[in-house]
Amino acid sequence: MKAVEIKPGIHWVGAIDWGVRDFHGYITHNGTSYNNYLIMDEHVTLVDCVKQEFADETIENIKRLTDFSRIENLVINHIEPDHAGGIDAIMKLIPQAVIYITERGKKGLERHFDVSKWTFKIVKNGDTLSTGKHTLLFLETPMLHWPDSMVTYIKEAKLLISQDAFGQHFASASRFDDEFVGCASTFELEDSVKDYYANILMPFGQLIKAKIGEIVKAGIEIDMIAPDHGVIWRKDPGKVLQMYLDMANGKADLRVALIYDTMWHSTERMTVPMAQGIKDEGVDCKVIKLRATSMSVAIKELWKARGCLVGSPTMNNVLFPSVAKFLYHLGGLKPKNRIMGAFGSFGWGGGAVKEAYSMIKRTAVEVAEPGLEVMYRPSEEDDRKCYEFGRDFAVKVKEYHKKFE
Ligand SMILES: Cc1cc2nc3c(=O)[nH]c(=O)nc-3n(C[C@H](O)[C@H](O)[C@H](O)COP(=O)(O)O)c2cc1C
Ligand SMILES: [Fe+2]
Ligand SMILES: [Fe+2]
Repeated sequence: MKAVEIKPGIHWVGAIDWGVRDFHGYITHNGTSYNNYLIMDEHVTLVDCVKQEFADETIENIKRLTDFSRIENLVINHIEPDHAGGIDAIMKLIPQAVIYITERGKKGLERHFDVSKWTFKIVKNGDTLSTGKHTLLFLETPMLHWPDSMVTYIKEAKLLISQDAFGQHFASASRFDDEFVGCASTFELEDSVKDYYANILMPFGQLIKAKIGEIVKAGIEIDMIAPDHGVIWRKDPGKVLQMYLDMANGKADLRVALIYDTMWHSTERMTVPMAQGIKDEGVDCKVIKLRATSMSVAIKELWKARGCLVGSPTMNNVLFPSVAKFLYHLGGLKPKNRIMGAFGSFGWGGGAVKEAYSMIKRTAVEVAEPGLEVMYRPSEEDDRKCYEFGRDFAVKVKEYHKKFE
């Protein structure tokens, strides 16, 4: 799509990827965008690149605004290939440019490209660059979400270019949050923020809180947040900041995510009275079958809910593979401020529920024990047990939820 001036002299020159559906296993139902920004000033400066396959698109956008020989600086906030993959193509056009990057960023770029002809200026937290009318302030954000990550704040424009933070995998014809008011996209947008946070940023909640605290303490006024994916927060940048703080503080809905898989429907049948029990206790409930749902959606649903019950049949003494995969992935995302339990059907020796608990215990969530096991297909008596198990769990979730109110 065409370049868009987001602030006087500062232009979005990125690319929209309507078709991408998979980022290293994260299913992006709404596609995404790769945002980068061109500062047309005395010293013309490009902030970030785009994914390699989209380099031509950003090059076209830049070409309509300036001659490449005028670009003096290239700021690289994050070296992940969706933002820096196109750097090779761009540096061929701007070999004179100085690359502003963190120390770890430069080391990372060296592992991806032949950088021997490129000029670097290593920046540290608090360093600035004047482009003429604008002062760029670099704030390092290590491990948000890579060691190289930083954000660029443009003082005069009160604009924060935030790389992955505050972004969403969300392709749209519009560049700004206010272009969605009263339209279906408003809900999709908020959901995309949570989806992105849950799948990419969940392990870094404490760092996020600290970083936002630092920004507030430094008295940095933010009028606009321009992330490297999705829409730009123009109308209400405070909203996404608050959403991030809430998520980092463990905010969740009074809700249970029942996440399960099944071979012959016995574990699935257990979820029916269980969901009823949860509902009858006044707690909302969402049921998710793993092989019918992408992993990233299951992760998002877990993240939105205060409680999660994981269901798995026993297969060859252990968890059913899709459930094992889910719990394994969750282990890396290090959820906390959630309460979890497990249930499942077995035929003889069992093992799935025990293993689910041992995996849950490797995370920092509150553990509700004991779990519930049923032999083969649930009987009427088992249905009652499942109902009570659901009710009981909902009571625990309500109690635990009070800590966050
Ligand atoms: C391939 C396969 C392997 C199984 N391995 C075990 C096992 O090791 N231990 C056990 O208790 N049950 C085992 N079972 C039995 C199932 O756990 C039992 O049929 C259960 O009711 C299945 O629940 P589901 O209908 O939710 O898939 C196995 C079943 C299958 C099909
Ligand atoms: Fe990234
Ligand atoms: Fe990214």
